[in-house]
Amino acid sequence: MPDPKLTVLISAGQIQTRIRELAAQIDKDLEGRGPLYMLCVLKGAVLFYADLARAITHPVRMDFIGTSSYGKGKSSSGEVRLTKDLDTTIEDFDVLLVEDILDSGITLSYLIHVLQQRKPRSIRIATLLDKPERRVRPVVVDYVGFRIPDAFVVGYGLDFAEDYRQLKDVCVLGE
Ligand code: IMP
Ligand code: MG
Repeated sequence: MPDPKLTVLISAGQIQTRIRELAAQIDKDLEGRGPLYMLCVLKGAVLFYADLARAITHPVRMDFIGTSSYGKGKSSSGEVRLTKDLDTTIEDFDVLLVEDILDSGITLSYLIHVLQQRKPRSIRIATLLDKPERRVRPVVVDYVGFRIPDAFVVGYGLDFAEDYRQLKDVCVLGE
């Protein structure tokens, strides 16, 4: 039974096609460099991260970082907390921070600030989705999957109060 609250915004096929394009660009940008430290922002980025990692051919190392700001609502509390830190050092590595969605920019600007103190060689940002209208803090991202209008979306890792993460498509969640 299809859920009447869900409308597909970006299909699984469109996502996979875009991931191959992003991975090709990332491979090109990393030519001649050492292994890439791919950092997954838990939990929403996990499916994008796993698919992107498999599409990149450059050697990749993996680590995970957790933040929390949203609770059960649909908009940011404006306060970010680190719920899980990296297990490894990223010093002198090229780092790719992989996020599900860039909304106010509060989460990513906080994470960039935290990671810069670990002295990586470089930090690049990949986000599956970008809602530019909602920006409060400016964030420069290197790889954007899709720019989307200001609607609350779920699926392909994104949740509403922890539900819907397993959907293969990105869907708009209605009332
Ligand atoms: P920001 O700090 O406002 O940029 O928000 C980033 C985080 O908010 C993302 O990592 C998501 O976890 C969450 N978020 C923002 N917009 C949405 C949405 O439309 N659906 C689900 N989660 C969202
Ligand atoms: Mg997130």
